[in-house]
Formats: sequence, C-alpha cells, structure tokens
Amino acid sequence: MKIGNIEIKGHVVLGPMAGYTTLAYREFMKPFGVGLSVSEMISDCGIDYNNQRTFEYLATSKSDRPVALQIFGFSAENSTKAIRIIEERADYDILDLNFGCPVFKVTKTGAGSSWLKDPEKLYEYTKAIVETSSKPVTAKIRLGWDENSINVFENVAALEKAGVAAICVHCRTKAQGYAGVARYEAIAGLREKMSVPLIVSGDIFTPEDAKRAVEITHADAVMVARGGLGNPYLVTQINHYLDTGERLPDPTPAQQIEWAEEFIDRLIALKGEVVAVKELRGILPHFIMGYPGFKAVRIEIAKATTKEQLVRILEGVKARL
Ligand SMILES: Cc1cc2nc3c(=O)[nH]c(=O)nc-3n(C[C@H](O)[C@H](O)[C@H](O)COP(=O)(O)O)c2cc1C
Repeated sequence: MKIGNIEIKGHVVLGPMAGYTTLAYREFMKPFGVGLSVSEMISDCGIDYNNQRTFEYLATSKSDRPVALQIFGFSAENSTKAIRIIEERADYDILDLNFGCPVFKVTKTGAGSSWLKDPEKLYEYTKAIVETSSKPVTAKIRLGWDENSINVFENVAALEKAGVAAICVHCRTKAQGYAGVARYEAIAGLREKMSVPLIVSGDIFTPEDAKRAVEITHADAVMVARGGLGNPYLVTQINHYLDTGERLPDPTPAQQIEWAEEFIDRLIALKGEVVAVKELRGILPHFIMGYPGFKAVRIEIAKATTKEQLVRILEGVKARL
C-alpha cells in the first residue's frame, strides 16, 4: 500500500489508542511487522496553547517510522495553526485526522465523530487541512453517528474530494462506542468507489478476523488496535496468514513474558519508573490473559509500584507454567 509517496509494508496498521499508543509501544510493536503506526490523538488546541504535555505526544524516532501523528480539533483555524507548529517540531510521515472519537468531552466541542454528521462541513475542514499540511493527510472515521445516520459512503466521497491520501473506517457507529460488533458488511463495495487506500478497523483479534475483514471490504490493510495489546505476535501472524494462508502457532507463555519484560524497559525509558509502572498495571495483564492463576496475578500487578515488583510477578508466572 502507498499513502501519498510513502510505501507501507505488509498488511497491518497499528491503530491509535489514547493512553496506549505511546512512542515506546509503537517501537515495541514495529518489529512484529507493523507497516504504519498511528500516534495517540493529539489536541490541536493543546498545541496552539503551548501545552507541554501535549508536545510529548509528538515524540517519534527512526525505528518508529513510517508514523502518522493524529490530531483532533473542531475548527480549521485551530487545526491549521497547530499543523504549522507540528511541522516545525516533529519528525513524522503522515498527518491523520480523528473523525471517530466518541467521547462526550470531545464530541461536545464539535471534534472527533461529531464531524461525521455533516459531510459538507467535513469536506471544508479537511480541505483546509490538506492545503496546509506538507505531509499526506489521512482520515479515520466510523460508519456514521448512529443507526439512523449511517453515511460512510458519503463521508468517504467528501474526504476524497478534499484530497486525503487514505481513509480508515472503524466499522461501528459513534453510538456503538466500542460495544457490539464491527460490521465489515456495511462497507462492502466502498473500496471499489475509492481511488485511495482503505484501511479497515474493528475487532481484528485473530488472523482469521483480518482475512474476513479484507475479503468482505477489499481493504488495502487492516488496523490492529485492542487485539495487539499484550499480543504483539498477532501482527506477525496476520501478515503471514494473509501472505501464505498458513497460521503460525501462538507464542509460548515464556515468550510472552519475555516480550512483556522488554516492554516494561521501553516504557520506563520513555516515561520514568513511577509513571510507567502506573500505566503498565493496565497493560501487562494483557500479556498473560487466560493463564492459570490469572486473576490473582492481575491483582498483584495492580498493586505493584516498582519495576522490580512487576518483573518478580512475571517471573513467578513463568516459573509456575
Ligand atoms: C482505549 C482506546 C483508545 C482509543 N483511542 C483512539 C484514538 O486516540 N484515535 C482514534 O482514531 N481511535 C482510537 N481508538 C479506536 C481504535 O483505533 C480502533 O479503531 C477501535 O478500537 C476498533 O478497533 P479494535 O476493535 O481492533 O480495537 C481507541 C480505542 C480504544 C479501545
């Protein structure tokens, strides 16, 4: 797949997840076969008002590329101002626009999935961004606002007319949030109407899910979001399965724990031990989900305050298996 002039290898885009898709996470996931990573969503106003915490989201590295930085905003004026600042401050390949966030704090301002309600406004806003950005611009949308306003075909046409270089569709409505199932059928036939790549998102938890999503939508790539948490090898399995039809065996528990420990080191290097350990409490359980004694181990992880404790807990799991 090519986005603008950027070559994306393989079949998998690492989906943006606020609170998770940090530089450390993206670097950790890349060697498993991620073709393109997308950052956590970044507030255009945070950039415009010189908020130092917002600037931290702009961090990228050589091994993180190609990478898309994702912004969200409610006005072309604020967003274009932010893009000019981002272009001076960050090294990245693609600018991604968030039109899918369902969180009330975001939609009440007119940002995120709020844009889906009006294709004409979506067009005007996106056009202004495309004209400002020196990088290719991509967009991430949902099927529509709710069941009564599924307008994904119309919004995709508006985005293409505005000049985006690729579009990702999360196959749920805003009203669904993250519940219910992703409906790939709702965008069957869409790719044939598009002249830029389509990325399909929603419920890609297995290589078979990825195959089904591609078969139904004819998407150029799949987006892995929640399915990759604590399961980095899923990316490798998807690439291999889509290329060869062969399913690679799942990793052993010992391998999973080794990867979890690698991720601990990376997140601590980025954020320092105190902050990283707090975040790791939510992420590490995904690496050992379903193993014997999982519930008790999850409680232990939730209480940990140091790297040493986390590693001791994980090594305990390894020794027992
Ligand atoms: C905790 C969480 C945070 C998310 N943050 C973002 C975000 O910042 N920007 C965005 O476009 N999508 C965001 N998403 C949506 C995902 O990128 C993805 O489209 C969605 O979760 C469906 O894919 P999945 O079923 O594979 O998780 C988020 C999802 C989750 C679960």
